[in-house]
Amino acid sequence: MGKVALITGVTGQDGAYLSEYLLKLGYVVHGVKRRSSLFNTERIDHLYEDPHVENRNFILHYGDMTDSLNLTRIIQEVQPDEIYNLAAMSHVKVSFDTPEYAANADGLGTLRILEAVRLLGLTEKSRIYQASTSELYGWVREVPQTERTPFYPRSPYAVAKLYGYWIVVNYREAYGMHASNGILFNHESPLRGETFVTRKITRSVSKIVLGQEECLYLGNLSAQRDWGHARDYVRAMHAMLQQERPDDYVIATGVSASVRDFVRMAFSEVGITLCFEGNGTDEKALLQAVDESLFAERVGAEYLSVVRDRVGDVVVAVDPRYFRPTEVDALVGDARKAREVLGWKPEYDLPALVREMVASDVKLMKRDAFLQAGGYKTLKYFE
Ligand code: NAP
Ligand code: GDD
Repeated sequence: MGKVALITGVTGQDGAYLSEYLLKLGYVVHGVKRRSSLFNTERIDHLYEDPHVENRNFILHYGDMTDSLNLTRIIQEVQPDEIYNLAAMSHVKVSFDTPEYAANADGLGTLRILEAVRLLGLTEKSRIYQASTSELYGWVREVPQTERTPFYPRSPYAVAKLYGYWIVVNYREAYGMHASNGILFNHESPLRGETFVTRKITRSVSKIVLGQEECLYLGNLSAQRDWGHARDYVRAMHAMLQQERPDDYVIATGVSASVRDFVRMAFSEVGITLCFEGNGTDEKALLQAVDESLFAERVGAEYLSVVRDRVGDVVVAVDPRYFRPTEVDALVGDARKAREVLGWKPEYDLPALVREMVASDVKLMKRDAFLQAGGYKTLKYFE
């Protein structure tokens, strides 16, 4: 019999990659998904099994991190060997608009899982992974950040996650639970939510080169992040729960780059060189040159006229509406402990991540344009 895993946040970026990974390892995977007025399962539709199929190994349950009774019932029904608590209101900027909800879902939600496991008498059986975050370091006290670096959260999201982190440590110490925090640095992929900065950039680059958008508006171009690939990071989540003893681990690449660097890299993936001018809110990037053979290979010769016409134009500008009331300026992690104890190291580097995301979005935006033009009958061409 395979192990049974329960994933909260199964419809999110990490939930999708982790589900795929665990299913390949022979797990039965249960996921908690929120009720929504529209379908919200796009990232996991390829894993979906009809409820009429016998012996399903991928099963979804309606639930919400703010509903203790619901979470307790699901855990009782599923009797999981491993719980991956990935559900969260995960957008830092949005948490300034919905601070109470972020505290409830991200902070108290973690407590609800731990307490349900304890009350159901599953402390011995169910191991718990908590999706902690490099946002805990906030106004960083040390570079690079390790498991011993003090925390200084800078948003309602990070403060809620701080509660989640410490309640996991407390339940581990108080009740001997196998509960671990993964302090994950930013990780991205083609499945990344569209309003996080990397995906916002790769989508816009794709739209600009296809003639669907004029300009990409961003906030703080100088913020630095340690960006890895979600596919690598879900392996670390699983590895933490296979250890004899629970513990907390930093998961990071050790390489930091600015938002401006990411923009440059994304445009250069399609053969475009940018020229940045100005400072602060007046900073802009102009389309300086096009490597036409690379562009033709990565986007298509039929779109060359679009970018030829844009040489000298502003294609990136700053819009202060994307600034945060308090910012996390620079993050870079030291994942030595994970490497030594878990044997974990990333396979993707930043250029490979950017390449995959840009290629995926160029394909997606072409497909969307094709569909809008009524080309649905030959959709197979894009699959
Ligand atoms: P994501 O794509 O935003 O996914 C979040 C998931 O949580 C979605 O499935 C979402 O459901 C679900 N969710 C949100 N509020 C919920 C609620 N009240 N009840 C039940 N489910 C709820 O985030 P991600 O990038 O996969 O990240 C996974 C986890 O790791 C999050 O806890 C995040 O804070 C944390 N983390 C992420 C990173 C990163 O760089 N990606 C780094 C460190 C930590 P819907 O699909 O219905 O919205
Ligand atoms: N989203 C966004 N949109 N961010 C922008 C923009 C913009 O237009 N312009 C600049 N940025 C800057 C932000 O100010 C921030 O410094 C950086 O880009 C990264 O922003 P996000 O991609 O939104 O991610 P994040 O670092 O705030 O949070 C993500 O990573 C955390 C781990 O460190 C989320 O996935 C969190 O859930 C996660 O915990």
